[in-house]
Amino acid sequence: MTPTKFPRIVILTGAGVSAESGLPTFRGAGGLWEGHRIEEVASPAAFRNQPELVHDFYNWRRKSLLDPAIKPNPAHHALAELEQVVGPNHLYLITQNVDDLHERAGSNQVHHLHGELLKVRCTETGEVWPWLGDLQVDTPHPSRLDLRGTLRPHIVWFGEQPFRLPDVYNRLRHCTLFIAIGTSGQVYPAAGFVQATPASCHRIELNLDDTPTSPAFQEHRRGPASELVPTLVRELKQLWAASLLSS
Ligand code: OAD
Repeated sequence: MTPTKFPRIVILTGAGVSAESGLPTFRGAGGLWEGHRIEEVASPAAFRNQPELVHDFYNWRRKSLLDPAIKPNPAHHALAELEQVVGPNHLYLITQNVDDLHERAGSNQVHHLHGELLKVRCTETGEVWPWLGDLQVDTPHPSRLDLRGTLRPHIVWFGEQPFRLPDVYNRLRHCTLFIAIGTSGQVYPAAGFVQATPASCHRIELNLDDTPTSPAFQEHRRGPASELVPTLVRELKQLWAASLLSS
């Protein structure tokens, strides 16, 4: 990376950033949950036709995330540190992950594009609540006695619109450094974010392997996120300290 001014950083993380924390990726070995592809249990049609199956899937994922062994790894910690150093005006962190490991590491501003596993939403009222336990087809609404079975995971399913996309594209339009970490570049619209950055933007991809979107990046760093991210953050902090990153 050349020491030029990179005042507006957008970072996109995917399942690869949480893999070393013990959360499986989607397209890794098998990529199946009890024989089902993610698309089969993460869609409005699945929720209509087999709500028990969909709840079982998210109850299992929620429980896995709350396992005391699951902790943020050095990649999450380094990104939280970067936020502390450059501040929220210079860093916009978007994650496709529904886990809360960025927050647990100390990141204050995280745009959860695909929702959050530890929240539920009422399909009738649109209200959102924190949720740590299981959800069933007949779970009562937390405050409305007349509503039962209206709660769903606060997750963006296939065929649904990711959250707050206009904010993302606004950030991408003015972005001077775009970094994608641990994402396979196969699920849109996130896979297309790199294409929405200006021609002058420097784009770095951090991943174990090449992805279909690798050609859109000028710089590729290959290896585990727990090593690559702290190294990159160290470099960015040095540039920042030398005022090469400030606006
Ligand atoms: P994927 O499982 O598709 O891809 C994970 C990527 O992380 C792959 O490119 C791996 O090479 C890379 N990877 C794995 N371990 C890594 C490590 N330790 N360090 C660095 N890279 C590593 O996950 P996503 O791209 O996040 O959507 O998937 C995108 C979306 O597809 C998810 O948000 C989810 C899924 O269907 C919904 O559920 C809507």
